[in-house]
Amino acid sequence: MSKVILLCGSPRKNSNTMDVLSACAEEIEKEGVDTEIISLKNESIRSCIACNKCVSTGNCILNDGLEEIIEKIRNADGFIPAAPVYFGTARGDIMAALQRIGKVSRGNDKFLDWMVGGPIAVARRGGHTLTLQEMMMFFSINNMIIAGSTYWNMVFAGPEGTAFEDEEGINTIKLFGENVAKIIKKIN
Ligand SMILES: Cc1cc2nc3c(=O)[nH]c(=O)nc-3n(C[C@H](O)[C@H](O)[C@H](O)COP(=O)(O)O)c2cc1C
Repeated sequence: MSKVILLCGSPRKNSNTMDVLSACAEEIEKEGVDTEIISLKNESIRSCIACNKCVSTGNCILNDGLEEIIEKIRNADGFIPAAPVYFGTARGDIMAALQRIGKVSRGNDKFLDWMVGGPIAVARRGGHTLTLQEMMMFFSINNMIIAGSTYWNMVFAGPEGTAFEDEEGINTIKLFGENVAKIIKKIN
């Protein structure tokens, strides 16, 4: 069965980003594609140290839990990272994770090739588009397929548990999720 990994970059317990990813995953599942949401909440993801060891070993030598996440992405058909916006850009952990995931893929079996997905940004007021653009760089350099929607993948939410108040944002994400699943099914 095809599978999509959704990666949540929020440290919060009742995270808006997690709520948005849950809505997205629900639509993907409705299309008969399996999902798994992984949270970085309890992780301390280090940045790439440019050791290039992944080129010879096939995985990252930093022992902080990202290797297991990389293995799950390696075996998936779709990948959706989602970030809360911090000071106008993506929270640091998710970018550190994306840079290491991309480095391992490019230096080895290129497991990201033709993987379907796209980024999601969640913020109280501003910085969504730059955050999406920042995360989009990961997709286009890694030969991935970015699914569309009828707006950009952004949701407005500040206090915990407010993501569903942005109805247009949630609907945009739902259609995006549906499209990710449909593209995966077409490819397969
Ligand atoms: C350090 C920090 C910086 C933030 N910077 C921004 C920002 O630049 N723009 C914005 O609209 N919201 C900003 N926020 C608010 C969060 O993006 C918002 O609360 C979001 O819903 C958090 O998602 P989460 O619940 O998934 O963690 C910031 C929050 C924190 C903790």
